[in-house]
Amino acid sequence: MNHMSVTIGTPLQSSAFKVLLLGSGELGKEVVISLQRLGVEVHAADRYDHAPAMQVAHYQYTLNMANPEELKQLIAQVKPHLIVPEIEAIATEVLVEIEASQAATIIPSAKAVNLTMNREGIRRLAAEELGLPTSAYRFADSLESFRAACDDIGYPNFVKPVMSSSGKGQSRVKSFAEVDAAWEYAQTGGRVNQGKVIVESQIDFDFEITLLTVRAKNAETGEIETQYCDPIGHRQDSGDYVESWQPQVMTAVALEEAKRISHKVTTALGGCGIFGVELFVKGDKVWFSEVSPRPHDTGLVTLASQYQSEFELHARAILGLPVNTARHSVAASAVIYAGVDDTNLSFSGLNLALANPNTDLRLFGKPEGFKRRRMGVTTARAETTDQARELAQHAADQVIVNQN
Ligand SMILES: Nc1ncnc2c1ncn2[C@@H]1O[C@H](COP(=O)(O)OP(=O)(O)OP(=O)(O)O)[C@@H](O)[C@H]1O
Ligand SMILES: [Mg+2]
Repeated sequence: MNHMSVTIGTPLQSSAFKVLLLGSGELGKEVVISLQRLGVEVHAADRYDHAPAMQVAHYQYTLNMANPEELKQLIAQVKPHLIVPEIEAIATEVLVEIEASQAATIIPSAKAVNLTMNREGIRRLAAEELGLPTSAYRFADSLESFRAACDDIGYPNFVKPVMSSSGKGQSRVKSFAEVDAAWEYAQTGGRVNQGKVIVESQIDFDFEITLLTVRAKNAETGEIETQYCDPIGHRQDSGDYVESWQPQVMTAVALEEAKRISHKVTTALGGCGIFGVELFVKGDKVWFSEVSPRPHDTGLVTLASQYQSEFELHARAILGLPVNTARHSVAASAVIYAGVDDTNLSFSGLNLALANPNTDLRLFGKPEGFKRRRMGVTTARAETTDQARELAQHAADQVIVNQN
């Protein structure tokens, strides 16, 4: 050993190694569990009480993380070693400041968090700086420039607020007749009322994948190395993932290209941790779509398929520890929605959901459900991805959501 490696103290005592999670959703919850297993003291923040990751953390904070003053105050109070953003709606200028002052390490890097919170930042980096293949695109910040951008790109195209996720404010515009409505819709769906949108040409792909890419330190040298999980196939409905499976079969040429693209973009973003690189694939051809500098929702399948899930990989990588991205099984995941807008929901039919010994379940414990809010997920292992998908979906279908 010729490099400085992490020392983990005792939680709740002065030697504690402290991680502050900004955003406490279901993906963060699994990251917290992985960190807890390694003896890390975890602080979890979100904008509402009893968020999933808060329920398994040592400390919880409810605040507006997009407010620079509130965020600064929290960081000063916690004094974390690592700050782990789990969502995009954060006052990222505070993180840039913290990184520059070396008061804490931003995961994976302030640059990564800053560029990926806005579709414009990451798209310009990928396409213009790194020269990676993407859909054709234009940005627009008024109805007039939007009409021109749509005509430029052609139809059908995809319109997305530059600051949005999970399909919010997104639409597929099939003709000029739909342009004005798409603009209106985008204005309601953005995270901050910033108005700017991206117009993308439609990529006619065979399938889309998430290539989970991990930047982690080599145990001996301390050098950061890039490793890949097997590609994850997924199906999106209205911009939100409904099922995923691993591995997605693809040609050797396409897989190499997917790795090349992922290596390039994650290297540019820097730091240690897992990245969910979203790619479109057609035959041997691959397009970059977007990247999350954190675990990816479609990667929930790795809870069933890998020795180290994407959450364990992230926990290890951010601590500077070595990782193993190997897969042991073919598996799939399927999403469980609330189906209603209500609080205090309960879930039954779990005996049937878990009747097959190769199935598993996560219920996130969200205090409030909405019709299309993800409340849980099932996973299943099988001989083939088709069988695993069927099994995971069947298990999800057995879960009954009850109002109380
Ligand atoms: N240019 C495109 N061509 C073809 N399909 C697209 C294009 N852009 C988006 N899509 C489809 O819409 C989905 C959601 O798009 P995108 O990932 O950009 O949005 P998002 O709101 O960030 O979604 P999420 O947060 O779930 O990842 C994609 O996974 C893909 O299925
Ligand atoms: Mg996406």
